[in-house]
Amino acid sequence: MGEEKRELYNSIVEAVRSCRACPLHRLRTNAVPGEGNLEAKVMFVGEAPGRSEDEQGRPFVGAAGQLLNELLLRAGLRRENVYITNVVKCRPPNNRTPTEEEVAACVGFLRQEIALVRPKVIVALGNTAGSTIMGLAGRQWRGVTAERGRKAKVTVEGVEVIVVPTYHPAAALYRPDLKELLADDIAEAAREASAQGTRRTLLDFMGG
Ligand code: URA
Repeated sequence: MGEEKRELYNSIVEAVRSCRACPLHRLRTNAVPGEGNLEAKVMFVGEAPGRSEDEQGRPFVGAAGQLLNELLLRAGLRRENVYITNVVKCRPPNNRTPTEEEVAACVGFLRQEIALVRPKVIVALGNTAGSTIMGLAGRQWRGVTAERGRKAKVTVEGVEVIVVPTYHPAAALYRPDLKELLADDIAEAAREASAQGTRRTLLDFMGG
């Protein structure tokens, strides 16, 4: 991986940690930048840090993160091979949904992360992630219940990606029916990513 890419990532992390663009910075223990493989084909985007994430400064390390890890493994993915981030990088009080203003203040970081990693597939975990990413792509969003199961090929930050809208792991923690749908969607994202990889390799081989 290019040294430049790592440096750019480090500068995003620094900017997230020193951000004061919205009032959430006053409440944080730690800001939570995205993390993972900068060459990942699959990017997971959640809503905002919860209590454990705020304490540790890392995304998806609490109960929802444990479930995400389990479903990644089931899909043949490993955390080290994917990139995981959130729309909002500081914890909203009592884990409330981030406001439009908070999303607007923070979304520049997500845009930079997408432009840096250039994933093939983005798994949008829940409503906030889905509406934000589809918004960046200039697409409509009708809510996670309507959009789940309808993957979309879109362009975000000049990157052509397949967006897989699905439920948030926190919603699936106590709902076995949602957990199985989420598992199916993550498995589908893994399949899409490896299919994309194959096509690219073949094109490269043909000089395309
Ligand atoms: N929920 C999220 O949306 N993100 C996290 O990082 C943890 C829980």
